[in-house]
Amino acid sequence: MSADYPSMTTAEIRSKFLNFFEERGLKLYPSSSLVPDDPSLLLANAGMNQFKEYYQGKKTMKEIGAISCQKCVRTNDIDCIGEDGRHLSFFEMLGDFSFGGVSKQQACTWAFELITKEFKLPLDRLYFTVFTEDDETHDVWRSLGVAEDHISRLGEDDNFWAAGPTGPCGPCSEIYFDMGEEVGCGSPDCKPGCDCDRFLEFWNLVFTQYDRQEDGSMPELPHRNLDTGMGLERMAAIMQHKTANYDGDLMQHLIKLGEEISGKTYDADDYSGASRSLRIIADHSRAVDFMISDGILPGNEGREYVLRRLLRRAVFHGRLLGIEGAFLTKFIDEVNAQMGEAYPELLKNVALVKGIVASEEERFSTTLDNGRVYLDEALDALADGAVLSGDVAFKLHDTFGFPIDLTVEIAGAAGHDVDMDGFTACMEDQKARARANAKGDAWGSFNDVWVELSDKVAATEFDGYDNDVIEGAKVVALVCNGESVDSAAAGEDVEVVLDRTPFYAEMGGQQGDAGELSAEGVALTVSDTKNHNGLYAHVAHVAEGTLTVGATVTAALNAERRGFLRRNHTATHLLDAALKQVLGEHVSQAGSLVTPEHLRFDFTHFEALSSEQLKAVEDLVNQQIFASKPVVTRVMGIDEAKAAGAVALFGEKYGDVVRVVSV
Ligand code: ALA
Repeated sequence: MSADYPSMTTAEIRSKFLNFFEERGLKLYPSSSLVPDDPSLLLANAGMNQFKEYYQGKKTMKEIGAISCQKCVRTNDIDCIGEDGRHLSFFEMLGDFSFGGVSKQQACTWAFELITKEFKLPLDRLYFTVFTEDDETHDVWRSLGVAEDHISRLGEDDNFWAAGPTGPCGPCSEIYFDMGEEVGCGSPDCKPGCDCDRFLEFWNLVFTQYDRQEDGSMPELPHRNLDTGMGLERMAAIMQHKTANYDGDLMQHLIKLGEEISGKTYDADDYSGASRSLRIIADHSRAVDFMISDGILPGNEGREYVLRRLLRRAVFHGRLLGIEGAFLTKFIDEVNAQMGEAYPELLKNVALVKGIVASEEERFSTTLDNGRVYLDEALDALADGAVLSGDVAFKLHDTFGFPIDLTVEIAGAAGHDVDMDGFTACMEDQKARARANAKGDAWGSFNDVWVELSDKVAATEFDGYDNDVIEGAKVVALVCNGESVDSAAAGEDVEVVLDRTPFYAEMGGQQGDAGELSAEGVALTVSDTKNHNGLYAHVAHVAEGTLTVGATVTAALNAERRGFLRRNHTATHLLDAALKQVLGEHVSQAGSLVTPEHLRFDFTHFEALSSEQLKAVEDLVNQQIFASKPVVTRVMGIDEAKAAGAVALFGEKYGDVVRVVSV
């Protein structure tokens, strides 16, 4: 087997790939953010993500195709990371893409030319797989000079690729490099696709031709497309004559840093103990740096949870290596030093990213200290080799926030398995309890007068953006002490539902309007307005006369009070904008209270503000207030509003038509 091919650094491989295709007329696109513009995806996981609409024929490209070096995160195999030479959570994917402009024959020919002429990989070490029925691709590889015994046909599990449960997908052909018999499993059946480290898949060519739908059907896409992905870390290992992803130049800088900080030694052939932990920290610290730089904050759901888990796992493995005190920000600096040139976004908010990492690391260290004491006591009490009960593992998870995989890891290191069935049963019990409680609530609200009323009475029409007073509003329901009544007399407190009203009901933290309802001989003072499933309840006191269902009233709100509420509401938006400007784009609203007298604005940030920051925020807000700019409102379609740059609050639902306020 030939061993003579040149060596190349990661940076050289990246630019050789991109230049090769640029010279052939494909257009270079920067990597898209790790946060995809696609609700079907948690995190960017392939170069093709940003081109989805081109595949679907919704957009067209004037060039024959595109190329990119895409940052990707995949976490489906997070537990394998460090235990072999291949798995990474974060990686870079080089790719060429085309939407009808490049034929299969052309795509394969270019791939072949690039790897054999530019990277000069020896043909006797290259292997190719094709989808079982794909004779066309088989014949192309053969025509380029690939021997029959270097091509294998694989089924759907291996040679059919999709980015997610729905969207563009298709059969693929993969290119493998023979890393040498010595790293293989030695089985006579070992061939590309085997789980061992011998045949390393480094380039996947997907012939994207279907668009998988929610119902599983797969209509054809408008074009025969191309989507390819070359793993840069894998290619670096190959081009540097190494056997594992972790042994290329870039990852080695991070592993060396881990060695320096921990005093432990890395052994490329050891997939357990310290070497495994060093790999995990090197891998996870890249993912953490890139994710936070793309605006993700540690949290308990979705991609935020992925980040928290990676960050905490890195910290935990630092502990396993015997590192004392915080260390993770040193890795952030090293990642930036290695990758900041190719990804300038890493260098934009370094202080912020390090601040978030440091505060999460500190929080988790406290969790670890507390949980560890409890776990160590439980382990000490066990006989040699006994199983740790599911109850203890659950208590660690539930009370201490101690992740189950860490419990398994620590127990394993002390020679104990964890009763995972018992743990799962405790988790199920907890879920069932939560469901039972939720059901209680559901029954409670089922009997609720407002639920009953909303079946009988149409939702109130709100007409208070332009009016302070409405005449001839009809009383459609009255609620006294939680019961629907027909009338309310002087001295009684009552909630009045009208068919239409200018009163704004409490929403988004803004208090409801106050004012008066009146008719011949009847007067009510309204202290607040609430929205019950679309029914506007005017919380009122009957000052005079008797109000009956069916009567018509004049509804007049306290316009001066509404003016204060309006101003304070707009001020929350000024504050939001000022906070983003001073602290960074990661600041997001977590709640607010708007009253006529004051406002409160809750937001996410990783530490308390300094007095300089407070002053800067205050000055910015005051500048805008004193500038006395006109406040303009317009009603428009949601898409138009987004295009105009309207700030939509995350997690809020908006209808098709929205009212946009701009200053
Ligand atoms: N999108 C293909 C992959 O990720 C190329 O393997």
